[in-house]
Amino acid sequence: MKVLAINGSPHMDDGNTAMILNPFLEGMKESGADVDLFFTQRLNIGPCNGDMSCWFKNPGQCGQKDDMQMLLPKFKEADVIVWASPVYYAGITGPLKNLMDRLIPLFMQEGESKGLKIVLVSTCGAWELSMFDPVLAQMKALYSVPEANSEFVGALLRPMADGMREMIKAGETRLVNEIVQAAKEAGRQLAKEGRIPEEIQLKVSKALMPRDAYYKASKEMMDQIKKSIPQ
Ligand SMILES: Cc1cc2nc3c(=O)[nH]c(=O)nc-3n(C[C@H](O)[C@H](O)[C@H](O)COP(=O)(O)O)c2cc1C
Repeated sequence: MKVLAINGSPHMDDGNTAMILNPFLEGMKESGADVDLFFTQRLNIGPCNGDMSCWFKNPGQCGQKDDMQMLLPKFKEADVIVWASPVYYAGITGPLKNLMDRLIPLFMQEGESKGLKIVLVSTCGAWELSMFDPVLAQMKALYSVPEANSEFVGALLRPMADGMREMIKAGETRLVNEIVQAAKEAGRQLAKEGRIPEEIQLKVSKALMPRDAYYKASKEMMDQIKKSIPQ
């Protein structure tokens, strides 16, 4: 099983998204998957210029010469694609969207298209799981069209991600460890069974604390940060 993962966080391996993505990919590797991980932050990928030359003038070929030349064949070979992104203004990050838009030449490339599996890994600062709704809707809309010949097999959604980091700093690691272990188990299950069971997805999204307590703690943390900045 060839897995291609793209992490759209500017924080790369030090970010909240990597706290979920990396154990997930580890779980897949443990179960024999061949995993390739890229960070948009390290890629040189310009936005699509919308001239549709990749459909009509040179079908399957993009006129822009940048890192998409290296990535497009990897997308074509992959059995599983993992889109990973923090929520930025209720969507994915800009660089990840640029990369997605640049996949459009694939529609015009020859060769048998296979049943691709798609996974979303996303983190956000809010307490509410509904913060992921726009990103989920995008994934479902994209991959439900018959031409995509693909299946959206699940999402690892981690709200309160900044709180998770604060809990580690405070030495309260039990819940965070459970979440990380669930992400790893999700990877094992996907590699073995081709699916991520619903109950594992729910474990990754589990609330760290009640809503009011979370926002109170967030405000206190922000106030502390502001005080620590010299005026
Ligand atoms: C520019 C920007 C926009 C953000 N927008 C949202 C948002 O709309 N909703 C939300 O809950 N969190 C938002 N966040 C918080 C991030 O989603 C959250 O901190 C995330 O876990 C960061 O992941 P990373 O460390 O992997 O980059 C935003 C953060 C930034 C920097």
